Amino acid sequence: MMEWIASAAFGLEGLVKRELQALGLETAMDQGGVRFMGEPEDAFRANLWLRTADRVQLIAGEGEARSFEELFQLIGAIRWEDYVPGGCAFPVTAQCARSRLMSVRDVQAISKKAVAERLKKRYKTEWLDESGPGYAIHVAIHQDRVRVTLDASGEALNRRGYRTWNGEAPLRETLAAALVDLSPWRPGRPLHDPCCGTGTILIEAAFKMADRAPGLTRGFAMEGWHFADKARCDAIRREARLRFQPDRIEGISGSDLDPAALALCEKHLAQAGLKGRIPVYQKDLRDLDRLPEGACVITNPPYGERLGSKKEAEALYRGMRRLETQAGAAAVCVLTASPSFERLFGRRAQRKRRLYNGRLECEYLIF
Ligand SMILES: C[S@@+](CC[C@H](N)C(=O)[O-])C[C@H]1O[C@@H](n2cnc3c(N)ncnc32)[C@H](O)[C@@H]1O
Repeated sequence: MMEWIASAAFGLEGLVKRELQALGLETAMDQGGVRFMGEPEDAFRANLWLRTADRVQLIAGEGEARSFEELFQLIGAIRWEDYVPGGCAFPVTAQCARSRLMSVRDVQAISKKAVAERLKKRYKTEWLDESGPGYAIHVAIHQDRVRVTLDASGEALNRRGYRTWNGEAPLRETLAAALVDLSPWRPGRPLHDPCCGTGTILIEAAFKMADRAPGLTRGFAMEGWHFADKARCDAIRREARLRFQPDRIEGISGSDLDPAALALCEKHLAQAGLKGRIPVYQKDLRDLDRLPEGACVITNPPYGERLGSKKEAEALYRGMRRLETQAGAAAVCVLTASPSFERLFGRRAQRKRRLYNGRLECEYLIF
C-alpha cells in the first residue's frame, strides 16, 4: 500500500473526500486535500474518476525542516531509487507558506540536489541522464512541515480534454462539477443554465448523469511510471468506457445571450462526446420561456469585474428573480462574486457556501 493525496481547491475538500470514499478508499483530511491509502491502480482510478479534485500525488516523504540542512537530509533520506529509474527526468517544483524556509527557488534547488546526490550514489554514477520520462517531484512546506510528493496526474485534473479555448470568463471544470454536486439537482430532474457560456456546467452535469469518467479521454503522468501496471490502467480505462451511457442524458439545457459563446459551447459539447444531447440556444435570461416542471437552474452570471460593467451585472441580477417567477424554476443556484447579489435578487438564499473561482472569492447561493 502507498499513501496518496488528492489536492483540492479551498472549500471542495469535503466533496473530494466523498468521491474517494465512493471509490472504496480509506480517507483522511489534510492541508490542501484528502489523503488515501492504495495501490497505484487505486490512484489511477482516482485520476480517472475524481470530478472535483485538482491532482493526485504520491506521498514520497514527510517531516519537519527549519533549515536547508534539515531539508537536504529529509529529502536525501527518501528512497528515490525505488521511484525514479536511471535515465529519467525528475523536475522539482516547490511551494512555501508560513515557514522558516520561504525561498521557493532555494527550496527547489536544495531539494533537486538532495535527490540527485542520492540517485548518483545508488546508480554509481557522477552524471545523471535525464532524457527519459518525467517523475515530477513537488516539495510543499507549510508551517515548517514538509510534504514531498510525486505528481501522478500530469496536467491538472480540470483539463478533461473537451475544452480547447477558455473563453473570456472560464469556470474551472472541477468547480463546475462541485456546483452540480452541491445543488439540489439530481439526475432525472430538469437542469438549465441560462448563462451557459462555453457549457462547462452543462457538460459536468451530463458526465455525472451518464456515468462518464471525467478523465476518460486524457492521459495521466503515472501511466509512464515503472511501478504502475500499464495493462491494469488500460483495463480500468476500458471498464470506464463501457460505463459511459450517453443515452441517459436528458433534461439538461442551456442558453446565453452571446452567440460566440454558444458556438464555443457547441464545440465543447462535441469534443466531450455529447453532440446533439444537450440543446443550447440564444436568449436573454430575462426573456426565458417557462422551464420544465421542477427545473433546477445552476449558473454563474457575469461578475461585473471581468465581463461587462458592474452596473450591467447589477441590472441583470435584479432581472434574475424572473427565473423563479416567469420561468418557474424550482431552485436557483448562483455562483457570484457580488456581495449584493441577494439584495438585488430580492431574497435571502437558503444555503450559502464560500468558494473560489481561481483567485476570486465567490459565494454559491442556493434559493
Ligand atoms: C461568467 S460567464 C459564464 C461562463 C460559463 N459558466 C462557462 O462555462 O463558460 C457569464 C455568461 O453570461 C452571459 N450573459 C451575460 N448577460 C446575459 C443575459 N442577459 N442573458 C443571458 N446570458 C447572459 C455571457 O454571455 C457569459 O457567457
